[in-house]
Amino acid sequence: MYHLIKTEHTARRGSFETVHGTVQTPAFMNVATAGAIKGGLSAFDLKNNDCQVMLCNTYHLHLRPGDKKIAQLGGLHRFTRWDGPILTDSGGFQVFSLAKLRKITEEGVTFASHLDGHRIFMGPEQSMQIQANLGSTIAMAFDECMENPAEYNYAKNSCDRTVRWLKRCKEEMARLKQNELAVNPHQLLFGINQGCCYDDLRIEHMKQIADLDLDGYAIGGLAVGEPKEEMYRVISVVEEHMPKDKIRYLMGVGTPGNILEAVRRGVDLFDCVMPSRNARHGHLNTWNGIINIKNAKYELDESPLDPECSCECCKNFSRAYLRHLFKADEMLGMRLAVMHNLHFYNHLMIRIRQALDEGNFEEFYRQYIDVLDKRI
Ligand code: GUN
Ligand code: ZN
Repeated sequence: MYHLIKTEHTARRGSFETVHGTVQTPAFMNVATAGAIKGGLSAFDLKNNDCQVMLCNTYHLHLRPGDKKIAQLGGLHRFTRWDGPILTDSGGFQVFSLAKLRKITEEGVTFASHLDGHRIFMGPEQSMQIQANLGSTIAMAFDECMENPAEYNYAKNSCDRTVRWLKRCKEEMARLKQNELAVNPHQLLFGINQGCCYDDLRIEHMKQIADLDLDGYAIGGLAVGEPKEEMYRVISVVEEHMPKDKIRYLMGVGTPGNILEAVRRGVDLFDCVMPSRNARHGHLNTWNGIINIKNAKYELDESPLDPECSCECCKNFSRAYLRHLFKADEMLGMRLAVMHNLHFYNHLMIRIRQALDEGNFEEFYRQYIDVLDKRI
């Protein structure tokens, strides 16, 4: 249940109630694809770094260890020891980005596993069954994330099919919830808007899925190679047609600057592999911009990575030490770097919420929009 607390122009400050706790929005979800954060962080590290929602992937967990085994082990919360909200992506995106030899029909998608090549079929029903076995707080609808650019007619047909798939997702979830042994009988369902960069398709699709009265709405199919101005335009076009009383989630976005722009346009929820992936390459977010810790200029730098940051890395260690850990390929370097970037993203959201609470988001936006994505 989404509750709108305050607005500043189109930006929204809200809260989202779930059986696993209330999420203060705008919020960033930390990506734990296969039930762990890449770089060696656990659910307890997420708690200690102010994460509110953990995101896991249907596709990966279905392949390994298998969703039925996770259900036998009591579900994803018990398995990973994360007791807050978990959102599972449906497999829609991963099937299209990772798997090979896909064949799409009205029923669903047949594809080859990226692990061993064996053939798998996934449609709306299978995706909902897997997510029910995982027992996530929020299940995402099974969608097709089209290649960008896609031909207009292809995009139109794909959008129509995604609406039909969404109706099947909703029916299947209702059926699965009747099972008295359901891992999470209160599981929520979010629909996903598609339509490439065609405004009319985006709007028509949004109107159709809004009619289905789902628990939340996501904007998908963005940050797939289009210019960022195009992405911002599509967000604004879709936002106008999104229900005001439902939470809005922009999938797979993005940089701190992208997040500021999207919050300003009315988005409440984000996820991205960027902070953890960048950290593993030594690219670290600070309140002055992005630094590359492997750079020689940090060899004798005794200052903390970011003096404004209160994470375990910045509180205890110097840039010189962190640089050394990277150079020496010590696992600790990666773990500290990932911890810092996730802490940074979670605190970016805390400060965005604070600015909205105080009615000075616009000022906060202007102060940081040209700073945070800059390489220094
Ligand atoms: N993650 C990023 N973009 C998408 C999308 O369009 N669909 C799904 N299911 N996941 C995504
Ligand atoms: Zn830090």
